[in-house]
Amino acid sequence: MAIPREFIDDVIARSDLAEVAATYVSLKTRGNEATGLCPFHSERSPSFHISTDKQLYHCFGCGEGGGVVQFIQKIENLGFVDTIEYLAKRLGLAVPYGDDEDREAGLHRKRILALLKDAARFYHSELKLSETGKSYLAKRRIEWSTAVRFGLGFAEGGFRLRDAMRGLGYSEAELDAGGLRTNGRDKFFSRLIFPVIDRKGDVIGFGGRIMGDGQPKYLNSPEIPNIYSKRRALYGINLAKNTKRQNLILCEGNIDVITLHQAGFDNAIASMGTALTSEQCYLLSQYTKELVICYDNDEAGKKATGRALDLLRNSALSVRVVTLEGAKDVDELISNNGARAFERLLEKRSGGTEFRLEQLRGKYDITQNEQKLSFVKDAVQLLASVPGNVEREIYAASAAEYCGIALDGLLGDIAKARKTFARTEKRKTEQELPVYSNRAYSPSEAGIIRICSQSPELLNNSEFSAELSALEFSDDRLRRIFEALREASDTRALQTILDGEAMSLYCEIISKPENLSASRELLRDYLKTLQLDKAGKSGDFSAIMAMRKFDD
Ligand code: UTP
Ligand code: MN
Repeated sequence: MAIPREFIDDVIARSDLAEVAATYVSLKTRGNEATGLCPFHSERSPSFHISTDKQLYHCFGCGEGGGVVQFIQKIENLGFVDTIEYLAKRLGLAVPYGDDEDREAGLHRKRILALLKDAARFYHSELKLSETGKSYLAKRRIEWSTAVRFGLGFAEGGFRLRDAMRGLGYSEAELDAGGLRTNGRDKFFSRLIFPVIDRKGDVIGFGGRIMGDGQPKYLNSPEIPNIYSKRRALYGINLAKNTKRQNLILCEGNIDVITLHQAGFDNAIASMGTALTSEQCYLLSQYTKELVICYDNDEAGKKATGRALDLLRNSALSVRVVTLEGAKDVDELISNNGARAFERLLEKRSGGTEFRLEQLRGKYDITQNEQKLSFVKDAVQLLASVPGNVEREIYAASAAEYCGIALDGLLGDIAKARKTFARTEKRKTEQELPVYSNRAYSPSEAGIIRICSQSPELLNNSEFSAELSALEFSDDRLRRIFEALREASDTRALQTILDGEAMSLYCEIISKPENLSASRELLRDYLKTLQLDKAGKSGDFSAIMAMRKFDD
């Protein structure tokens, strides 16, 4: 490892997990425990726990867990070396690099970020000189000052970018690593370039729109490890994070974002051609309390709105929806009707329930009894999923009035549906949990890990050494955890040995308390049960009998 071991240990020892996490999550501390809303999945009631003495976290909702290293790796999307660097910087320490691979990994990342920034500068300078580019801007009514604010560019293609970047000292391999080439030629040609800039101001990728008709309409950078992840990217966040407005507007396309900013809505953002993800929701919740969805006014946009509402249902973000009356997207609305028209629609933004009820109204003709019945059925399902009593009653009243039925009857049906709903919800969240919390391992295996973690001296106890060395775990992560426990100087060092998945499992296992006063007896017990389990599974009855005898 290029960074000296002692330095890594020192950084981890000095980085208090609760303190680090508190800059991302609001935490309540009681005794040795801090709790809050999990930053790794959307939720309304806190299932994220930090043990301040163990310096580990675990979320009982999504199963994520680890130490301060995994926390930063996951939340900042950084590799190990960059995480240590991040934590060191926070403590005001300079990283004493050795000179091999890891240092190179950190340097490589910085080098690619520098390349992407230089490429963006180059594309932008090309736009200044390009008549095709500038006339396309004019056609899309993008002012030059807006193009500057977004760093828009023009890619001619061929080898122009390559030659310019080679001139700046970048290698062909670096161009490939930055996702800037396809088959040795510039990836983007004859396209208007939209640099994707993250909240820290780094250029992390590009989108390129064809100027005119043709396929694909947009070409995007590929994923770049530790730099560009589409699940996290939010176009416009570098500007929107500074807005003074009370919400963020999520729209569908790059052009929509640009048009909105130009019209004075500096709170607009978009995902890069993907559906909204939980990672993006978390990022957004760091900057705002209210998200206004403003997707295209077509079937696809309506569906995407529904999916985003689903995703955000249990989120701390409050969600509103703008319906773009009389236009296919924001860009068209503002071009045709102006900023004031959009401001008025924004004021009329509706809640998620209202949006869905409105969708149902459009779907059925309630002058027909059959359809009216279907409307009521769907409305009952919809309203049963609304957590707030007041909100539920308000919309129930509106639905009852809309189709001329008694409110009491409707509320009764909703109450019944709520019971079923709660059950299926529970099953759904259980199914949605990441695979690694499907416990394939036995309680005894977990018990052994737990005891060896809490009483590490048992690992070197001659009474157990032979049996522990011969242990075969049913799950490879358990084996890795066990080996890490034997290797680590203390449990804090585990986070430098194990990957995020194994750390999550480890934290899940040790989140259950174990009786420490009887750890030897417990370990003996677990080992025996495990042997019996194994013998039972393989049908080795003589082994079972032999053990039983030994027992008496
Ligand atoms: P749209 O087709 O709605 O594009 O796709 P747009 O932004 O409104 O562009 P104009 O107004 O037609 O020029 C929405 C977003 O989906 C992604 C892009 O990020 C785009 O902004 N997209 C679209 C792709 O990634 N690839 C495509 O081929 C099309
Ligand atoms: Mn569009």
